[in-house]
Order: sequence, then structure tokens, then C-alpha cells
Amino acid sequence: MKILAIETSCDETAAAIVKDGRELIASVVVSQIEKHQKWGGVIPEMASRFHLEAIDQVLSDCLAKAKMTIETDIDAIAVTNGPGLTGSLLVGANAAKTLAWLYSKPIIPVNHLAGHIAANYIGTEIKPPLLCLLVSGGHTQIIRVDSYTSVEVIGETVDDAAGEAFDKVARLLDLPYPGGPHLDKLAQEALIIEGALTHESAETCRKAPFCYEFKIPDMSGLDFSFSGLKTAVLRLKEKLSADIWQRDRAKIALAFQNTVAEFLFAKLAKASVETGYNNIIIAGGVAANSAVRKRFSEGFKAPDYQVYYPPLSLCTDNAAMIAAAAYHFKPSDLGFEVFSR
Ligand code: KG4
Ligand code: ZN
Repeated sequence: MKILAIETSCDETAAAIVKDGRELIASVVVSQIEKHQKWGGVIPEMASRFHLEAIDQVLSDCLAKAKMTIETDIDAIAVTNGPGLTGSLLVGANAAKTLAWLYSKPIIPVNHLAGHIAANYIGTEIKPPLLCLLVSGGHTQIIRVDSYTSVEVIGETVDDAAGEAFDKVARLLDLPYPGGPHLDKLAQEALIIEGALTHESAETCRKAPFCYEFKIPDMSGLDFSFSGLKTAVLRLKEKLSADIWQRDRAKIALAFQNTVAEFLFAKLAKASVETGYNNIIIAGGVAANSAVRKRFSEGFKAPDYQVYYPPLSLCTDNAAMIAAAAYHFKPSDLGFEVFSR
């Protein structure tokens, strides 16, 4: 079964074809990031207009890449119907509905978060039951995935999402939007400068004398909070002279991301004990973070644990993950709505 999916929930216009929920045939992602950069964030009205301009080309590029036509090769159309920016979602949903109607194909609306989970199934044999840490710009959740279609959120952030915290701290460090990947790169400079690559783990690095140290947020249960950590970086900036702040930017970035990694890891370890699930997957843009990956690989070792992160191209928003998720869900009629939250 070959599914053509469309994803337009935020600032990426994407189309992809995936076979049987596992095999990636073609994926095209056109990012609007550069267009929003000068505003320091995504402007919703502009985002929907850019999706409208890009969607036809993205779809035809995807089909050309796969050397396929909808009429003869595609079995169903899938589309993200939420959560996301309403105007942006509408562009994708209307394109998908039009194609489904025109070619008489079934249409499958997909929750964006179910997509991030399903990114892990592409090119792998990973199966539920498992625990998914979803860490993106809008979400930080621990999801117990009992089956392909049955999931429960067992922990989540009470304030900022992890990606949002990365983006806000990156702004304090004068890095361009979206700051997460830039902050990650800056932090790695500190590792190189200080020879810290010889430190055995993220935890020893977090405490190493050259590092700044931030307190791991104190949250009970399986919930997260990032606003205190973000404020701690702001207070540090206020306290340090501009010269020292400038000199130590990379070290501060490193300390921040190691603290986030440690916090995420500790919560997942707790969730694993509580649920008895020891298959762990990480989804969403922050899954691309080097400190997070390092901490999880070190902390969750075979044979007791299995930990998996999708390749970078599948961590951030894309349509392949939507096609992979759609494989497990039932088609809908054309009347479905989009939802922002
Ligand atoms: O999943 P995603 O592409 O979009 C949604 O929010 O749904 O995630 C984007 C977020 C942004 O906040 C971005 O800064 C963050 O993921 N991100 C990273 C890295 N790459 C992307 N954060 C930390 N380190 C990275 N390497
Ligand atoms: Zn996303």
C-alpha cells in the first residue's frame, strides 16, 4: 500500500510517499525558515501564504522523484489535520481533499504527533509497545505507545516546550531562529575547545570545572518544566559582564543543553521503571540534539534497553512520518476539520 502524504502544520511544506508504513519512496520538504527568520519566529498569516505558493511544486516534485502518478500508483492520500497553525493546516487539508476527490482515493487525516512517533517506523522494524519522548518546538511529552493506534500521554511540560526553551536561550545567545540547531553547534565548539570530548559522559561534563552549571529543574512525577532553566540563563547573562558572556557563550550553551539532556533522560528512566517498557524512541526536532542523543545512548544500553532516534531528516517536520502513521489508521470522509490544539 503506497500512501502519498502532505504536511503543512507549521513552517515546512512537505509531501512524501511511503510504502506499507515502513519503506520511504520519496520525500520533499521545503522550509520557510529563511522567510520568517528576520521576524524571529513564524508569522502564521505569512506561513499559510507560503504553503499555498509551494504546495503544487512540492507535490509534483515528490511524484517525479518517485516516478509515480497518483492515478496509477497511489492507494491513499494522507494529511496532517492538527495540531498546528490553522491557516497552514487548511492549505494541506484542502490540497489533500482535492486530490482524493479528483482521483477517487481514500483520504486519511493524521495527528501531527502520531506522525512524529511513526517517523521511528520508517526503515526499521521497531514495534509498539514502547515509550516515546516527543520533544519538538510545540510539545514535550512522554507517550506510552501500547499499539500503533493506542497511545497515552503520561507526562508533559507544564510551561515551555523543550524546543521552545532551546529557541529562547538561543536568542539570549544572539543565535538566529530557530535556535536549537545553532545552539547545538555552538555547544560542540566548547567541547572541542576544552578537549571535553574526553569526558566520559554528559553528566561528568555537566559538572566539569570549566563548565557553567545549571540546576536540573525540580519536577515531581513525569512532568517537565523549562521556564526556570531559561530564566536561569537570563539571570546569568544579567550577572556576567558582556565580555565574559561573549567569551563563554559556547560553554554556557553546552551547560544548558547538557542540563536539558539530563532532565529528559531522568524522566524517561523513571517512566521506564513505572511502565516496565524499555523500548525507547525519541521524536521531534530536539531529538536531533547531540547532547540528548549522547545521554540517551549512554544511559539506555542493550540488552536491558533499546533506544532509537530517527535520522535527522525524519526528526524535524516532514510528510514521510505522516504517511507512515496513516498506514495504521482508517480513512475518513471528506468532511473532516483541522484543529489547532
Ligand atoms: O519537530 P519540529 O521540527 O517542529 C515542531 O515543533 O513540530 O521541531 C522544531 C524544534 C525547534 O524548536 C528547533 O529549535 C528544535 O526543534 N531543534 C533542535 C535541534 N534541531 C531542531 N533543538 C536542539 N538541538 C538541535 N540539534
Ligand atoms: Zn513537528
